[in-house]
Amino acid sequence: MCGIIGYVGSQDAKDILLDSLELLEYRGYDSAGIALADPEGVHVYKRAGRVQDLRELCKEGVPASTCGIGHTRWATHGGVSDRNAHPHQKGQVALVHNGIIENYRDLIRKFNLEDQLVSETDTEVVAAVLDHYYRKVQDPAEAIRRTVLQLKGTFALVVIFDDKKDEIYCVRNVSPIVMTTFDGNIMLASDVTALGGYTNRYFVLPELCIATCAGGEISLTDLAGEKEVEPEYITVDWELNRAGKNGYPFYMEKEIMEQPEAIAKTVEPHMTDGLSDFTAEGIPDEIFTGCDRVCIIACGTAMHAGLVAQALVQSILRMHIDVEYASEFMYSNPVLDEKTLVIAISQSGETIDTLSALRYARSNGAKSIAIVNVRGSSIAQESDYVIYTNAGPEIAVASTKAYTTQLSILYLIVARMARLKGIYTPEETRAFLSNLTKVPEVMKQVLDKKVEIHKIARKILNAKNVFMIGRGLDYSILLEGSLKLKEVSYIHCEAYASGELKHGTIALITEETPVVAVVTQEKIFAKELSNVKEVRSRGASVILFVKESLASQIPEDEQENIFVLPDMADAFMVMPASVALQLLAYYVSQDKGFDVDKPRNLAKVVTVE
Ligand code: M6R
Repeated sequence: MCGIIGYVGSQDAKDILLDSLELLEYRGYDSAGIALADPEGVHVYKRAGRVQDLRELCKEGVPASTCGIGHTRWATHGGVSDRNAHPHQKGQVALVHNGIIENYRDLIRKFNLEDQLVSETDTEVVAAVLDHYYRKVQDPAEAIRRTVLQLKGTFALVVIFDDKKDEIYCVRNVSPIVMTTFDGNIMLASDVTALGGYTNRYFVLPELCIATCAGGEISLTDLAGEKEVEPEYITVDWELNRAGKNGYPFYMEKEIMEQPEAIAKTVEPHMTDGLSDFTAEGIPDEIFTGCDRVCIIACGTAMHAGLVAQALVQSILRMHIDVEYASEFMYSNPVLDEKTLVIAISQSGETIDTLSALRYARSNGAKSIAIVNVRGSSIAQESDYVIYTNAGPEIAVASTKAYTTQLSILYLIVARMARLKGIYTPEETRAFLSNLTKVPEVMKQVLDKKVEIHKIARKILNAKNVFMIGRGLDYSILLEGSLKLKEVSYIHCEAYASGELKHGTIALITEETPVVAVVTQEKIFAKELSNVKEVRSRGASVILFVKESLASQIPEDEQENIFVLPDMADAFMVMPASVALQLLAYYVSQDKGFDVDKPRNLAKVVTVE
């Protein structure tokens, strides 16, 4: 969703802002703008459309400036238009905003703004209120403080003033801002990706602190302006560079191909002597032994990772586990107490639904662990404990390596719990986890056969509807596979527990409806295969992803459109199968000529409820 960038230093701000806005494109947006400060005041350039359109607009007549702010907007209040794009300028103030101001209508009334507003946004109202206070007090921090006290909602606000040509101010509530300094320059952004290789050291602006960026330094004070606050810097070992797609046509393909390495990097730091180990995170064993139920909260792909964990927790730990859409969690009156371990899963660490659910769970006494990819993100900060996936930056909107690294951490947690609860001996734990250490190698075998999957993908290129069927863990895998296909190919696709077909859905199966079946679970494969037969007999063409050791049992006349997945223990077959389904979705989207990395209507970081 919306992205923010700010720069003040010795270099040309326009180029830095435009380049950084490009790095923010992956979040999803529909308009973009920048504001530049110079001795004459603040100059705003903004436009509905892509950053490339903004570049065109800024080609000529833009003053030299070393201080500015920029924004990519994902419309919430007001349609997609030049006027609604950020930055919003009112009097002496220009600002960009992420989040939602819930009481903007009250503010319009309170400050008599009705006749002054030219856009339909909540943001312009904030700019007008801030200008009102700035005119009164002529002190940026004090004007921001007074404005913030008027606001209800979530916000990351980044402001420049037309008489402060080398200064940027910011403040936030929930919506994140990361900041850094390098060689006398200051950069800030809504997420670390936009810092784009300038540095791999940054800090997250603490909530309700006012940051003043001037003279190459950032100073932080609490909202009352009474206390200085020390920034807590984080260093990441990601390559925050601009190398981009590394020769691949899309980030999605690059990120699918990176999975073996990402999983190895995620698993290795959490293994000691063949056993899972979270001492580096400071997670006490009591958090695992002291709980009598587990609850996973997450959205989208991260929630699908939770569903795989649900199967493992139930079958191995024999414990009660709920997996909830974070957006539904607090409205479902969940049972929570100090014996509940809540696991919040999120790639970005900023998904507002997950963050709100986590806050709710903690306020009801639950203990929490977050599985997060982005260091220092809100969910990471607000959870009792955090385990980071080392997937590196995930830019494509469709989540791939985040999912499989989340799964890796979940396997490690289940193994740790099984060991601590005495369900597994150390030897059994080692045997279980030896499957996990084999995953990178097994995944490579699937990735090496991507051309085969590309061929298979052509079979569903022109389909209007696709069904994906399987049972048990295979069904969980397909929920994720079907989300992938939907979001990047725009083909309507549903995952069904295949035993359920005959209770209604099979009415939709015709020759026009390709069916993707995943068969990897030895215990239930005979039943899965008979469900495949049911759809074949109704004319459906079937694409079959089958585990190698089961493949010989597929009759010869049903071997067309079959992809053989390398063998792993059943509980781990989710890994090779998911990679195959990711590639399937990817190739369909690519062959349809879509912008694979930026599917329509979607945003990478979802910061509105
Ligand atoms: O950043 P998060 O993992 O919290 O994001 C959750 C979902 O928005 C995300 O997984 C979404 O479903 C992806 N686009 C799926 O590919």
